Amino acid sequence: MHIAFVLGTRPEIIKLSSLISACIRDGVRYTLIHTNQHYAAAMDRLFFEELGLPRAHFNLGVGSGPAGLQLARMMMGIEPVLQEVKPDCVIVQGDTNSALAGGLAASKACIPVGHVEAGLRSFDRSMPEETNRVLLDHLSSFWFCPSPLQVELLAREGIEGPNVLITGNTGNDATLLHARAAAERSVIHERLGLQHDNYLLLTCHRPSNTDDPAHFAQLMQAVQCLAEEQQRQVVFPVHPRLDQRHWKVLQGMSRIRTIDPVGYLDMLALLQGAALVLTDSGGLQEEACVLQRRCLILRPNTERPESLETGGARLVSHVGANSLVEAAQALFKTQVTWKNPFGDGNAHRQILDALMGQLNVEAALRPGALPRPVVS
Ligand code: UD1
Ligand code: UDP
Repeated sequence: MHIAFVLGTRPEIIKLSSLISACIRDGVRYTLIHTNQHYAAAMDRLFFEELGLPRAHFNLGVGSGPAGLQLARMMMGIEPVLQEVKPDCVIVQGDTNSALAGGLAASKACIPVGHVEAGLRSFDRSMPEETNRVLLDHLSSFWFCPSPLQVELLAREGIEGPNVLITGNTGNDATLLHARAAAERSVIHERLGLQHDNYLLLTCHRPSNTDDPAHFAQLMQAVQCLAEEQQRQVVFPVHPRLDQRHWKVLQGMSRIRTIDPVGYLDMLALLQGAALVLTDSGGLQEEACVLQRRCLILRPNTERPESLETGGARLVSHVGANSLVEAAQALFKTQVTWKNPFGDGNAHRQILDALMGQLNVEAALRPGALPRPVVS
C-alpha cells in the first residue's frame, strides 16, 4: 500500500501528523505533497518541526491568491506528482482548498480518495469550507468520520456502506498526544506574564468575521466589553489573514493583547490556562472541548455540534454590545466536566489499519462502488 497525503495549511499539518507518524513507524510507504497554501514559517515549518514530521517529498509553492487561481495551481502541481508516484490512495483532511485540490486531482487520476474528518456539515454554504466538504465527500471512496453523527449526515446524502467508518478525530489524537508536553515544556505563560485563569484566549480568522471591517470592529468591541466585565486581558494570536484594516481596529482595544501566531505546544498551553476561549476556528473549538475549557464559538453555526452538546460551548450568532457578556455568564454557570466526544486518541490507528487491511482499494473504483445518488 502506498499512501499519498495532500496537505497545505496549519490545521492539516497538525491533524494529519498522527497518521503520517504512524506510517513512518509502521514502515508504510507514503508520499507527502505540500501545496504550501500556508507558507510563513509560523504557519508551516514550525509545525513540521514541533510535531517531528519529515519534510514533504513535494512542495508545490502555491501560496495565497483568489480561490480559483489557488485551486488551479494546486491541481496543476498535484496531477504530475500523482502520475509520477502512482499511489494506491490519496488521503486529504478536512475542508481547505488544499484538501479539495488533492481530492479533485486524485479523482481525475482515478485514484481512490480517503477523507479524514468526513461528513461534517455546517449547512452554511456561505462558508467556503462547506462547499469543499460536500464536494470532497462526494468524490471520496473512504470516509473517516469522527463520530456517529457524520455517518448519519453522509447517509442522508446517499453515502453509505462499509467504507464509511467511525474512527474518532485525528485532531483529538494530536491534542491528547501533546497536551501534557505542552503544559510541561511551554514557557508561553512566563513569556507573556500570564497566570492560569487570568486571561481569555481569542482567535478569529473566518471570512465571515474578517471580510467586513465593520463587523470585525463590532465583534472586537464586544470582546473588549467582555474583557472589561471580566477584569481580564484577552490574548489574541493573530492569523496572517488579518491586514491593516484589522490592525487599525485592534489598536483601539486596550484589553486585547495581540501576539504573533504561536506554535502548537504554546497554543495547547494557552488553551489549558485560559479562563474562556473565544474562537471561530474549527480546531480550537475541538481542542477547547477536549481540554475541558469553556468556549464561545464566534459563529452562528458549527459543523462540530459535539462540543455544544457537552454544555461547555455556545454559539454566538449576534455580536451586539452585551451579547458576549451574557453568553459568557451563562457558560460560567456550567459545570466543567464532560466526556471527550472526539474519540480515544487512536483515530490514526483505526484509519491506517482500515486502509491496510479492511478496505478494498480496487473495489472502491469499480462501477457502482461510488456513493449512490440520493433519490427523493
Ligand atoms: C485557510 C482555510 C481555512 C482554515 C485556515 C486555517 C480555505 C478555503 N480556507 O484559510 O478553512 O481554517 O486556512 O488557518 O482553504 N497568509 C499569509 N501567510 C501564510 C498564509 C496566509 O500571509 O502563510 C495570508 C495571505 O494574505 C492570504 C490570507 O492569509 O491571502 C488567507 O490565506 P488562505 O490560505 O487563502 O486562507 P486562510 O484564511 O488561511
Ligand atoms: N493553532 C496554533 N497556533 C495559533 C493558532 C492556532 O497552533 O496561533 C492551532 C490550533 O491549536 C489548532 C489549529 O492550529 O490545532 C487550528 O488552526 P486554524 O484555527 O488556523 O484553522 P481551523 O481549525 O479553523 O481550520
